Amino acid sequence: MAEALKLTRIPSLKTVADFRNFVASLGIDLPCEDNIVVGKESPLAQPIDSLTVNGKTIGNRWAIQPMEGWDGATTGGATDEVRRRWQRFGESGAKLIYGGEAMAVRPDGRANPNQLIIVEQNKKDLAELREILLRAHRGRFENADDVVIGFQLTHSGRFCKPTDKKRMEPRVAYRHPILDRKFNITSDAQVFTDAEIEQLVECYIAAAKIAWDIGADFVDIKHCHGYLLHEFLSAHTRPGKYGGSFENRTRILREIVAGIRASGNKIELGVRLSAFDFVPFKPDPALSQPGKLGPGIPEDFSHCLPYHYAFGVNPNNPVEYDLAETFQFVELCAQLGVKILNLSAGSPYYNPHIQRPAAYPPSDGYQPPEDPLVGVARQINVVRKIREYLTKAEGPSSTAALNSKDGVEPVPVKTRMIFMGSAYSYLQEYLPHVAQHVVRNGWTDMIGLGRMILAYPTMLADAVEKGALERKLICRTFSDCTTAPRNGMISGCYPLDKYYTSKPEFQQLKEIKKAVGA
Ligand SMILES: Cc1cc2nc3c(=O)[nH]c(=O)nc-3n(C[C@H](O)[C@H](O)[C@H](O)COP(=O)(O)O)c2cc1C
Repeated sequence: MAEALKLTRIPSLKTVADFRNFVASLGIDLPCEDNIVVGKESPLAQPIDSLTVNGKTIGNRWAIQPMEGWDGATTGGATDEVRRRWQRFGESGAKLIYGGEAMAVRPDGRANPNQLIIVEQNKKDLAELREILLRAHRGRFENADDVVIGFQLTHSGRFCKPTDKKRMEPRVAYRHPILDRKFNITSDAQVFTDAEIEQLVECYIAAAKIAWDIGADFVDIKHCHGYLLHEFLSAHTRPGKYGGSFENRTRILREIVAGIRASGNKIELGVRLSAFDFVPFKPDPALSQPGKLGPGIPEDFSHCLPYHYAFGVNPNNPVEYDLAETFQFVELCAQLGVKILNLSAGSPYYNPHIQRPAAYPPSDGYQPPEDPLVGVARQINVVRKIREYLTKAEGPSSTAALNSKDGVEPVPVKTRMIFMGSAYSYLQEYLPHVAQHVVRNGWTDMIGLGRMILAYPTMLADAVEKGALERKLICRTFSDCTTAPRNGMISGCYPLDKYYTSKPEFQQLKEIKKAVGA
């Protein structure tokens, strides 16, 4: 019988040499620098001067990933917890705030009843969040003219829970042979009609107008993590104008961009993309029992080969990525004038180990099926490949015909984009060392930080200013920030952020994790 993986914990790797040796033993490509570089010489302290966003030069190389807290008002406005999070985003020193957190473009598209909603009624609250962030940034770093802020626009599709934390109200792009069973899709009535999608496109256009009015520099048109627009990218089996061919599967993005531009809105654009995906995973039943969560194994996919139910996956072996369509999509983004491409992977709902590699699983997940560094390296190397593809000397092949008929001004294919990578938090002590290497060598432009920010917002500011980290604040990927919302609680860093440690929910979380063996 297969054994659960015994992880080597990052804190047990005492030196850079230990880290390198361990990486070598895994057979992965994950280079790092010897020392944390302090001050202006740091690759992480360099502005991006090759491209501006809304006329601004992004002042350094670390960014905040979008992270919701399941803690907004039920009307979709802000609460003190949301305000606190945005304040900490501002204090982090990051000069790119990529999205803040997912904001539903309409109430029924929320992933939880406490997600922010970007509609007229919440304009004041969203404007305040932006102000809080900028004020906090100025308070610590003086200059905020080089801070670029975007809002992330979303519809949660298959993972909608708009009215009750426990009740899924999914709306999907197509019927899925594995996910339908897992997430309670039982009827074709849950599939969006083309007419409903046309209405939804209008909501994105309206949300982008609100973002612009409030002063956001860009909007992210979210295409990741299994949410609706990501799911449309793999809608091979869907009939009609939003399914089947690549052109049809990307039509929603083109219509949203065309609509934003036709409305005279000058807001800049970003796309967060799950660049690749795998089949859903589950805990190995042979190694699971009450109080013991087994390691992840793929769900049986033998009945659905070739696998046309995910984007960026090898259809003949859907536990491997295939970037052919990813390249095509990224080219399309360039043509549409998308300025920032934020690359992620998979979904936190059905294959969290490829999306947010962790030592400890969330309560609805599974023990790591691979060393989490493998997952980190996979994402880093995919970003490198995509960036190389788009910026290579001869330029990618032209698909310029795709956008001209939608009324979007075609832009040269070789337009530069700012690339941002994800999934660095598991690197822990060695995050700055790896981040320096990948930025210095042009593997990515920006380092996007997620969970680490919840635990230790100033990690990279400390690295660049002092060359040293506060070890007790480093995120150890306990996954409490995911387990909490999966069990109806607000998210946050329960183990390390005192604001959450002192809450009764922390005790509840410990009990939930013990019961499932997470
Ligand atoms: C609590 C939590 C909330 C998140 N919310 C969002 C979100 O609203 N939008 C999004 O695109 N990704 C979201 N993510 C994913 C992160 O942006 C990021 O991709 C992931 O945590 C991996 O990066 P990391 O290793 O730095 O944590 C969330 C992650 C966590 C842990």
